[in-house]
This record gives sequence, structure tokens and C-alpha cells, in this order.
Amino acid sequence: MDRRLFLKGTLASGASTLLPRLSLAKSSDGFFELEAGKSQAKLYGDQGPFSDLWLYNGQLPGPEIRAKQGERVRVRFTNRLDEPTSIHWHGIRIDNAMDGVAGLTQPAVKPGESFDYDFVAPDAGTYWYHAHNMSWNQVPRGLSGALIIEEANEPFPVENDLTLILNDWRLDEDGALDTDSFGARMDFSHAGRLGNWLTVNGTSLPDIPLQAGRWHRLRLINTSASRVLDIAPARFGAKLIGLDGQCFGEARDVEGTVQLSPAQRMDLVMRPETVGTIPFEMMTGQPFTFANFQVSASEPDDQPLTLPGVNRLPEPDLSKARTLPLVMAGGAMGGMRSLMKDGKELDMRQMMEAGLFWAFNGDAGMQDAPFFSAKRGESIILESRNDTTFAHAMHIHGHHFRVLERNGDTLEHQDWRDTFTTVPRETVRIAFVADNPGKWLTHCHMLGHAASGMMTWFEVS
Ligand code: C2O
Ligand code: CU
Repeated sequence: MDRRLFLKGTLASGASTLLPRLSLAKSSDGFFELEAGKSQAKLYGDQGPFSDLWLYNGQLPGPEIRAKQGERVRVRFTNRLDEPTSIHWHGIRIDNAMDGVAGLTQPAVKPGESFDYDFVAPDAGTYWYHAHNMSWNQVPRGLSGALIIEEANEPFPVENDLTLILNDWRLDEDGALDTDSFGARMDFSHAGRLGNWLTVNGTSLPDIPLQAGRWHRLRLINTSASRVLDIAPARFGAKLIGLDGQCFGEARDVEGTVQLSPAQRMDLVMRPETVGTIPFEMMTGQPFTFANFQVSASEPDDQPLTLPGVNRLPEPDLSKARTLPLVMAGGAMGGMRSLMKDGKELDMRQMMEAGLFWAFNGDAGMQDAPFFSAKRGESIILESRNDTTFAHAMHIHGHHFRVLERNGDTLEHQDWRDTFTTVPRETVRIAFVADNPGKWLTHCHMLGHAASGMMTWFEVS
């Protein structure tokens, strides 16, 4: 990370701006209208230059879509870009035809064309949407937004329910997005394309208004392409209530940090008692402030903490589960000499030419045959082993899974997730019920890793 750029921005911001409340998508004839197009935003703050971005409805982040649990979500999407795209609804246990994976669940939406997304959102919680065609090139230009599924009776009033979208950007001093580095082999074969500028809801170092003596819910979403953000909830007085959209039904005091990897979400609650400023920090390396909570006086409402409900997800039957290995290999310093692509062995030179640096079980990228086929309702255990020298954030489409074990240690909290992090040399066991028919992608959500080999698919029928 380039500290100079961060610091320069911090100083330039001086009087910080207020966190923008995300604008809500508007619906017409029951459809939310979303349009992807070229647009601009000021990532260095109000006094700064405009950056050329690709945005939904010209907004950064894209408009927040809110719907009630169990309701149908309808989005009429129009592509005003010069290249094909699609939208994926990340973390929703969705009808396969609506999953938005260009080339697997639908053809990409061509420039000038529209596609109607229409699906039921079965689980309440914090989700997000993003472009899913050449994601490594489209998402880091700004094509993402929050998707919030509300319970019938949301426990937090809207003014105390805050969505915080965390993102990083690779910018030069004039605010221009570094587009030359999209697809750079150096990034793809290392930790992915990292930005040098952090924003919260598209704004640099904003003030997040909170009210003293009241409970707030914070919905953190990491939409960055590669950056793992370490968050220490206790440092700002928050408790953890959910991960990846799934609330636990309890509020946990967490010691130390919780990783928020690309695509992951973290739901927190906090009730600041005194008026003042509390830094909201990223804990990677030195604590780095990327926003400030500004706590103002208010009538304490004396409301006790009411936790969101727990979604009912299908419980895997571990005694009958089929265990499948998922060995991650490759990348810089990974020592991989060759890999397979559609049954052909590629040596180092051919791998470089093809831009493939990573493999799952020796296979690089999407193959004609699925990684596995499951009978509907079958319990699956994936035993993932990270034989690379980098961290990865593995996402499974259409399902949530429990994280059971790390390096053979049974976890105290076997939380439901849709994206899990794995560090070098680590073995992680996860389990889920393959109960959603269709063809489902599974990939590293470090988007450059996905594009250069860490992507496969499975079938449920
Ligand atoms: Cu959030 Cu396949 O993606
Ligand atoms: Cu990865």
C-alpha cells in the first residue's frame, strides 16, 4: 500500500465529509431499474478531481436495493457500457437462472440490451450485487452496490441501520483510475490488484453519524477486488452479530481482529455512550483510520438490544456427507510447474502465455466438466488446502456453508458463510447441502486470481 497517497488524501480532506446515505433504487412497475454506464465520482473528496468510473445509475456505490425476506426482487437491468456485462446477487440462495454468471447461467447482456432479474430472496441479511463478466475489469471500476434483505419486523430503525461499503481504488495523484494495470500478470500471480485509496460508501475519510445511548447496526461490505481488511470491533465498542448475511442470534464480544475479505460481510452492533469521535480503523499493519464515527447527543431511547432473527438454512448431515478435496496451487513462489486446461497439460511457458497462474486440484480455470456433480439434497464436505503462498477468499454460489475446521481444529463457532478466507498452508473444512439445482460457480473472490485459474463449477441435479 502506498502510504503517501493515503496520507495525502487524509490531509487534503481536512474537514471530512459526511457519509452519504446510500440512495435507494426506485421501482417502476414492480421493477428496480439499474443501468450500468460510464460515469464519474470524486474519490478524493469534494475538493478533489473527478475519476472516470463505471457505475450503476451514475451512483457510487450503486443504489442500495432493499426488499423484504421472502419477497420477489425484480430488477430491470440495462447495459449502457461498451462491453457485455451481467449482475450477480452475491450470497443470495437464488434460482440458478437468475444468478447472473455470464457464460454459465445466462449469456452476457450486450451493450444497449436489457435483462430482467426476478428472484425470491429467502434469507434476511446483508448481501451485495456486482458485475459478473470480466469481473476483474468491471467491479474495480465501480460496478457494485448493497442488497439488503429485511425481516418482516426489522429490529433497527432506518436511521440506526447503516450500510458501510468498504472499497479500495488504484488512483494516481490526479484522481485518474489506473486502468493500465487491469489484467496485470504481476498482480494476478501475487496478492491480486490492490488499490492505494480507501473509501467508505464512495467517500474518503467520511464522518459516520451515530447517536449516543442508542443501538446501531452496521453492515460492513468489502467490495474491493483483493484487499483483506482486518477489523477490530472491540476497539470502537462494537459486537459481532453476523457474517456473510447470516446473523447468529447472539452478539459476540470479539478479541482482536476479524478478517473481512473481498466479498465478505460483517454485521456489527454498537451503542456509543458518550458524545465524541471514535476512529473506524483498518488494522492491517498499523491501525489506519478510514472513517470516523461522530457520536452526537440524543435522547437515550433505553431500548434493549434486539437481535435480528436467524435464517433457516439446510443443515449438512456430516455422517453421510461426501468429502471432496480442493487443493489450491500456483501463484508466484508457489512452485507449480504445470497445470491442466481441458485435459491438456500446460508447461510454465504455456501457462504464462495463457495467463493462467493458479489451479484447483491441478486444473486451471473453467473446464468443460464440472468439479463435481451432486444429487439434490446431498451433503458435501469440501476440504480445501491452500498450497500457495497467498491468502484466498473462496466463494460458493447459490449456497451457504458451515466452516467446520481449520488445520484439524474444530471451530468454536461453525458459522454460516458464502465466502471463506484461507491463509497459506492452511486446510479448511466446510460443509453444505447441495440443495439448489443448477450450475454453480465457485471461485476465489480475489478477482485477478479467479481470472487466472481459481474458478471452477459444480452441478446439482
Ligand atoms: Cu461475488 Cu462469483 O461472485
Ligand atoms: Cu485467490
